[in-house]
Amino acid sequence: MKKEEKFEKTMEEIISWSKRRGFVYQGSEIYGGLGGAFDFGPLGVELLNNIKSFWWKKVVQDRPDYYGLDSAMFKHPKVWEASGHTMGFSDPVAECKNCNTRVRVDKELNKIGIEADEKMSEENLNKLFKEAAGKIKCGKCGKGDFTDVRKFNLLIRSNYGDFTSKNSDPVFLPGEACQGIYLNFKNVVDSFHPKIPFGIAQIGKAFRNEISPRNFLFRCREFEQADTQYFIKPDENKEKYEDIKRERWQWYADLGLSEENLRWKQHENLVFYASDAWDIEYNFPTYGFDEIEGIHDRTDYDLAQHTKFSGVDLSYGENGEKFIPWVLETSMGVGRVFLAMISEAYSKEEVKGETRIVMKFPKKIAPVKVAILPLSKKEELTKPAMEIFDSLKDKFVCQYDETQSIGRRYRRQDEIGTPLCVTVDFDTPEDKAVTVRDRDSMEQERVKIDELEVYLQKKLG
Ligand code: GAP
Repeated sequence: MKKEEKFEKTMEEIISWSKRRGFVYQGSEIYGGLGGAFDFGPLGVELLNNIKSFWWKKVVQDRPDYYGLDSAMFKHPKVWEASGHTMGFSDPVAECKNCNTRVRVDKELNKIGIEADEKMSEENLNKLFKEAAGKIKCGKCGKGDFTDVRKFNLLIRSNYGDFTSKNSDPVFLPGEACQGIYLNFKNVVDSFHPKIPFGIAQIGKAFRNEISPRNFLFRCREFEQADTQYFIKPDENKEKYEDIKRERWQWYADLGLSEENLRWKQHENLVFYASDAWDIEYNFPTYGFDEIEGIHDRTDYDLAQHTKFSGVDLSYGENGEKFIPWVLETSMGVGRVFLAMISEAYSKEEVKGETRIVMKFPKKIAPVKVAILPLSKKEELTKPAMEIFDSLKDKFVCQYDETQSIGRRYRRQDEIGTPLCVTVDFDTPEDKAVTVRDRDSMEQERVKIDELEVYLQKKLG
């Protein structure tokens, strides 16, 4: 009946699907858009929340050694000094001398096959950039004459609590979500007296003045991170690091990303806070393999820096021994995982000579679990259909839809990845039963309304 089409997924069609079906919109679109900012639509927010809930459940609620947190976004100006971000958090930029367009130097070098990244020194990047002269052209005017490479700080300033307009000691927006965890390390220890090793987890927004936000949700100026910081004894980092790497890989497999689309990449040039860093990369359509999560051995860098800058001792005492804990960090880009999930789920099939787009989301992640579809708008069908909706809505996220033909409604539900459709037809008032259609097999089964909830529960797993 149906045939899996061998087709190339392109990011272009996934982006267009995501807008059409209410998952992701360009931020401030009616004003022409704002670079690097996106809005999640009615179905996008459901999918996003499902990904975050799955993370929270596995990482915090299922783990006796993890504590959840939701720290304030705005933090004391000294936090970003202590963390090193006001000095060391920058991207290399050069400006086209003809049209003043700024280019991200490491990315331009990568495009012509030269290994480079933002952690390299300004001097080394300048050398490579000069050697590549003539091969790199400005994306806007096509000329190839650029200024020297300069590092540009990524923190975004605010005027929080500043009414002078001078803003000499700005409160920055968070450049990474995890700093709130270090600020609350002592609070959690004092409230719960956890034994080391233990972790603190939080999902929070991060803001970076990216030079060239690009690739849809992949590189934004506003994005969300799901972070854990695992506090350990200094000599435990090697073994625990491997455990954490294994756990994080497994999490992605459990989420439903296929393992052939995942791979590890170790960093050669390390960011200022890390002594070892590995990324989990996903094989995105069009973009290829790129980072979705960073796993970092941050040593005692953060707690030592905050001890120094705040004057508050953040060491940990155990059996008469006192030490600054080391930190193993996992930092997942929620938007990037969202993008990986929609990329993975996007499928096309040929059904009776027509192309069906179907989002094969794992059932636990699908934004809508059950659609209730009366075959006609006549009250004899809409009334029982609404009653079914009301009886199920507390158990599953349901959608009620009575518009257009049933075929079109099935296609619409396929396109948003709804695993099960419940159709109320003209036999329903008589036999007190409905037809349940499965998204993937498209098979239909007649089910008694009395048994519907249990049936759906079993199917949804
Ligand atoms: N606290 C550590 C940290 O922030 P990172 O490697 O800079 O490390 C962690 O970021 C994750 O955040 C990345 O793996 C990526 O998924 C996500 N991320 C980083 N920059 C991003 C951006 N501009 N847009 C979207 N996601 C981003």
